[in-house]
Amino acid sequence: MKKAIVIFGATGNLTYKKLLPALNVLINNKRINLDDKIFLVARKDLTLNEYIDDAKTQVSKYIDWDTLSNYLEYIKMEVEQTDSYGVLKDTLDSNGYSDTTFYLALPPELFPIVSSGLNQSGLVKKGEESKRIVFEKPFGQNLKTAEEINRVLWKYFDESQIYRIDHYLGKEMIQNILIVRFANKIFEKTWNHNTIRSIVIKAKETEGIMNRGNYYDKIGALKDMLQSHLLQMAALIGMTKPSSFKSEDIKNAKVRIFKDLEIDKNSVVLGQYKGYLEEKHVAKESKTETFVFAKANIKNNKWKNTPIYFITGKKLDEKRSEIIINFNDDSQLQDMFLGAKKNNTKLIIKVAPEDGVLFQLNVKQPGLSDDIISGNLDYCHTCNWVGNTPEAYEKLLLDIISDNKTLFTRWDEIEAMWKIVDEINGDNLERYIYSNYAHLRQMIKDSKGVDIDDL
Ligand SMILES: NC(=O)c1ccc[n+]([C@@H]2O[C@H](COP(=O)([O-])OP(=O)(O)OC[C@H]3O[C@@H](n4cnc5c(N)ncnc54)[C@H](OP(=O)(O)O)[C@@H]3O)[C@@H](O)[C@H]2O)c1
Repeated sequence: MKKAIVIFGATGNLTYKKLLPALNVLINNKRINLDDKIFLVARKDLTLNEYIDDAKTQVSKYIDWDTLSNYLEYIKMEVEQTDSYGVLKDTLDSNGYSDTTFYLALPPELFPIVSSGLNQSGLVKKGEESKRIVFEKPFGQNLKTAEEINRVLWKYFDESQIYRIDHYLGKEMIQNILIVRFANKIFEKTWNHNTIRSIVIKAKETEGIMNRGNYYDKIGALKDMLQSHLLQMAALIGMTKPSSFKSEDIKNAKVRIFKDLEIDKNSVVLGQYKGYLEEKHVAKESKTETFVFAKANIKNNKWKNTPIYFITGKKLDEKRSEIIINFNDDSQLQDMFLGAKKNNTKLIIKVAPEDGVLFQLNVKQPGLSDDIISGNLDYCHTCNWVGNTPEAYEKLLLDIISDNKTLFTRWDEIEAMWKIVDEINGDNLERYIYSNYAHLRQMIKDSKGVDIDDL
């Protein structure tokens, strides 16, 4: 069966920065066949050569344009006009493309319109196995709007045809979490509140919103990061062993965690970086948060009294995404070893910029003293595989065209995640204005008595 990938929103940031480079790699690795085609759909009146000339000025990663261009076709189309889908259908049908992926790299408000257009034109029939539709995040703005979008999708498609993207799930170390946890008995047996004191999930960025005010000002850090990436990481860390490692069983185990996870409203700190209001396309008196700190608990027997701290934001001190598992100290340690430090055994799952796992454990200080110091067992996931570890979008696109749904979000996950975030989003929480990370850290220390660098 000849395969087609149709990208709606081909003139957008996501297509230029992520999708085209990922497709270029998949083609070079022969994961996409010569018979297959990538249809670039957008509303600008362009020839393919003009599109490529524009794209070259936007794409920052290496692309072998001579090869990629053989797979590309540009189609001008107004996605809001229902009669415009006929041209696309004729093109696909007349060239024999019967296995098709429709990727909506579009603003989410267009999801229902395009879904209707695809179905009404006969491009995608409900339940048709060889037709997939991919939706980017954010999926809605809250539970209510997500439900509205989903109702439309379920009217036109089966859940099995729907791929909701959370690109964090395509990252190597996020996929590695379950392996580290369940393929190492040493962790599986100790992965609970008896042994683990706290969990910290961080996604810190140094950059601001970088000209994406149109998108970001409507969304903010709670919805952009916590509702999706951070909660997904919490579920992978918190879940009990699924009954199998099949996609549906992993999702069931995640949903159980989302249902038990509660954010302590009193712990939440929202911040906005100084200068945010001067960014392009940001409302004059915008209250959109660019930083979130929150403490949560998973209300089940496995995790009672083990807090999870979420930290995410822009214009912070470093670019770093990681999960820190802080183990309990041994209360008898200090009687046995005079120099013992408390609480310094931790496992750090490094997601970005490095991929890896660091196990920080207590060791004897070299020399004549009996002091205890921290030693690191540091596994670098990429070091021995330079050039071979796929980018998230390479993995996700390959999984979509291969009908593998493990790394995509099922509706009940989205629903449960929105319930968690809506609980805090409804409150009119104060937004602290921070000039830099040190300032923010001090404000949280003063207002909540927590040092976020000490968690
Ligand atoms: N960029 C990222 O890194 C990133 C990361 C995660 C998720 N996402 C998600 O991916 C989706 C696309 O994001 P993006 O950053 O690529 O946005 P973008 O740069 O604003 O591009 C949006 C695309 O949609 C088209 N479009 C907008 N309104 C349209 C309309 N009324 N009719 C037809 N086409 C329309 C634009 O066409 P014109 O060029 O003609 O305006 C453009 O091709 C969004 O859902 C976003 O949340 C993006």
